[in-house]
Amino acid sequence: MATTETESQPTVQRTDDRNPEGYLGFRLGEFEFSRDDYFVYVNWPTGRHVMSADAFLKALQRDVAWEFFYGIVNFDGVIGTVNHYGTVDLFAGRYNDGWRKAELDHLENFPTGTIKATFQAMLEDWTNAGFDPFASPDETGTAFGPKNGSNTAAITRHRVTAQRMVSVPGDEPIRSDESGFPINRHFHDVPQDEPEVHAEPGFEDQVSSFNLFAYLSRSNVTWNPSVVSVCKDSLACPTTEEYILPIIHGNDRVEWFMQLSDKILWDVEDRDTGTVRAKVVMKAGDVCAMPADIRHQGYSPKRSMLFVWENADSELPALISSGQLPNYPVDL
Ligand code: PHB
Ligand code: FE
Repeated sequence: MATTETESQPTVQRTDDRNPEGYLGFRLGEFEFSRDDYFVYVNWPTGRHVMSADAFLKALQRDVAWEFFYGIVNFDGVIGTVNHYGTVDLFAGRYNDGWRKAELDHLENFPTGTIKATFQAMLEDWTNAGFDPFASPDETGTAFGPKNGSNTAAITRHRVTAQRMVSVPGDEPIRSDESGFPINRHFHDVPQDEPEVHAEPGFEDQVSSFNLFAYLSRSNVTWNPSVVSVCKDSLACPTTEEYILPIIHGNDRVEWFMQLSDKILWDVEDRDTGTVRAKVVMKAGDVCAMPADIRHQGYSPKRSMLFVWENADSELPALISSGQLPNYPVDL
């Protein structure tokens, strides 16, 4: 194992040599990660796990790009991360009844910078040229096979996080053909007209408006919420979806979903055990709130538009886990 450490870059432990398929191996605490043509292998002192390389890289990409997100990012039913906002748990079997009962689950806590640096290095080494972990299966090359180049542009792409709102001068720009965002193949029927804004003189740079449907029709990624407007802790995070959400998200707060187009099927499970809680079908116009004690994974048969509404109040996880706030958002 070689380690690299600079002042700004935390330690990453990787193998000195590449394996026969051309990939490096990585270690983080007592976890060991390796990949070959088809699979990623995760070992820890009391167990081992294997995942398809494409599923692993798609989950890893999101965990890195979202800074470990809200609460739990399950890569599948066995491994994943818990965000403590400053530190992150890496776990195996912790939220899986079978592994827990056998007492073979494992969890280690790391400073966010340490796990992020390791995950980024793994993503960089294991993503081959032509594979885009954010793209739909129909719009990317293969993740499989021996090591074949890299795809740095795809795995480090800019994440949209508006300070106020997309289209406000100086904030995130709207998308166009010219800026490299053509209309997605499933969204050619989405009107592209932009609203006219007639601001009072002197307020031209403060009054803005944009066509959210047109904006989303030009997204080149899937299952990647963008912050398009912010009002205090209220974050509007719409996204376009196709195929399967590559993570199973375990909530530490309530989040609202508004289905803007087409359809998504959701599997909802108990956050801690994985026991089935609900099967939800959301069609265009449907609104739902995901409770704070579940985990969920979505299936989108066609490219669809989903509006995710997040509450970024950092006090929420403690208020909910201590019972001061309920797991659900409203009493009707
Ligand atoms: C979620 O976990 O709530 C989530 C994540 C990514 C999406 C949509 C929803 O694209
Ligand atoms: Fe979620």
